[in-house]
Amino acid sequence: MSHHTVLVTGGAGYIGSHACVELLNAGFNVVVVDNLSNSKVTSLNRVEAITGKLVTFYEADIRDKQSLSDIFSKEQPSTVIHFAGLKAVGESCEQPHLYYHNNVFGTLVLTEVMQEHNVKQLVFSSSATVYGITDKTQYSEDLPIGAINPYGRSKAMVEDILRDLAAADSKTKSDKPWKIALLRYFNPIGAHESGLIGEDPNGIPNNLMPYVAQVAIGKLPQLAVFGDDYPTKDGTGVRDYIHVIDLVKGHISAIHAFKNTQFISGNCKAYNLGAGHGYSVLDIINTFEKVTGRTINYKISPRRDGDLAEYYANPDLALKELNWKVEKTLQDMIADTWNWQSKNPQGYQ
Ligand code: NAD
Ligand code: UFG
Repeated sequence: MSHHTVLVTGGAGYIGSHACVELLNAGFNVVVVDNLSNSKVTSLNRVEAITGKLVTFYEADIRDKQSLSDIFSKEQPSTVIHFAGLKAVGESCEQPHLYYHNNVFGTLVLTEVMQEHNVKQLVFSSSATVYGITDKTQYSEDLPIGAINPYGRSKAMVEDILRDLAAADSKTKSDKPWKIALLRYFNPIGAHESGLIGEDPNGIPNNLMPYVAQVAIGKLPQLAVFGDDYPTKDGTGVRDYIHVIDLVKGHISAIHAFKNTQFISGNCKAYNLGAGHGYSVLDIINTFEKVTGRTINYKISPRRDGDLAEYYANPDLALKELNWKVEKTLQDMIADTWNWQSKNPQGYQ
C-alpha cells in the first residue's frame, strides 16, 4: 500500500468524487481542492461514508495562487489529478472568456505551483472532444487535434501547454522531469454502486443519461431524441459510454504507469479512455427500460447543433501502456445510474 498523497482538483464533482473513492481504496491519501462552483461538499461526506476513510478538503479556487501554494506546502502531494474545470459546451460558446479563464489560466496557475513545489506527476482530464471533425468514427490518439467549440479548444490548449512543459524538461535534462497523462474521456455515465454518489447536474441536464434518468423518475416530462436521420445503425447518435468507475480506475492505472518505461525519463502522453464501441440513443432508451422497468417518454426531434453522428474510442494504447480496459457493461452503467437517481431524486440537496 502506498502512503502517497494525491491532490485532486475538482474532487467534489461527479468524476472527482468517484476518483476519491478509488484512490482511498487503493491506499492513497486524498486532498481535494474545489471551489464548489458546480458541486456540493456533501459528495465528499459520502465518499468518506463509502470508504470509511477521511478526505482532506480545501474550498479554494485553483486560480488563487497563494491559497494553492499554501495547500501544497502543507500537504506535500506527490501527484495531482486535475479535474477542476467547466464543461458545458453551450455555455462555453456564450461565455468563452469564463471557460478559458477557468480551464486554461487555472491550469497555468496549477502547473506553476506544482513546478515551484517540485511536484511533477499530473493526470489531466481531457476529452474526446479535442479530436474535432474527421471522417473516421473510431478515434486513435494519433488523430489530429481540432476542437470545434470553446470548451473543446480549452482542453486542446491545455494539452498543448502540458506537452510543451514536458518537452522543455527533456531539453534541459531536468533530474525530476514532468510525467503527464492526458486522459481523453469518451462519455462517462453511471455512479458508484452504493448509490451514495453520482452525477448531480444543475438545472436541466445537457447530457443524455442524466436526462433519461430524470424522465424515468418523473422530474422531466419527455426526452427529445436529437435526430433519427444520422448515418448510424438506427439513425440516432452513437457514442462510447464508459462507466465512471472504469474511468477513474484509468487514472489510478496512469499513476502506476508513471513508474513504467514510457514515463521513466519524463513524458506527456495522451490516452483514450473508452470502451472501443458505441451505443445509439435508442440503445440507451431500450436498455434503460429493460433494466429499470420504467417507460421513457421520448420524441424524435431535430438534430442538435454541433453533434457528430458517431464516434468511439480506440482504447488499445491504454491497454498496452496503462494495462487498463473497461470492465462494466451498459446494463451496469444504467443500473447504477438508476440506483443513484432513485435514492437521490433531488441529487445532493
Ligand atoms: P463536475 O463539474 O462535476 O466537476 C468539476 C469540479 O471542478 C466541480 O466540483 C467544480 O466545483 C470544480 N471547479 C471548477 N472550476 C474550479 C476552479 N477554478 N477551482 C476549483 N474547483 C473548480 O464535472 P465532471 O463531469 O466531474 O468533470 C471533471 C473533469 O472531466 C472536467 O475537467 C471535465 O471537463 C472533464 N470531462 C468531463 C466529461 C463528462 O462528460 N463529464 C467528459 C470529458 C472530460
Ligand atoms: N442526446 C439526445 N437528447 C438529449 C441529450 C443528448 O438525443 O437530450 C443525444 C446526442 O445527440 C448524442 C448522445 O445523445 O447523440 C449523447 O449526448 P451527450 O450530450 O450525452 O454527450 P455528447 O457526446 O454530446 O457530449 C460529450 C460530453 C461533452 C463533450 C462532447 C464532445 O458530455 O463534454 O461529448 O465530445 F464535449
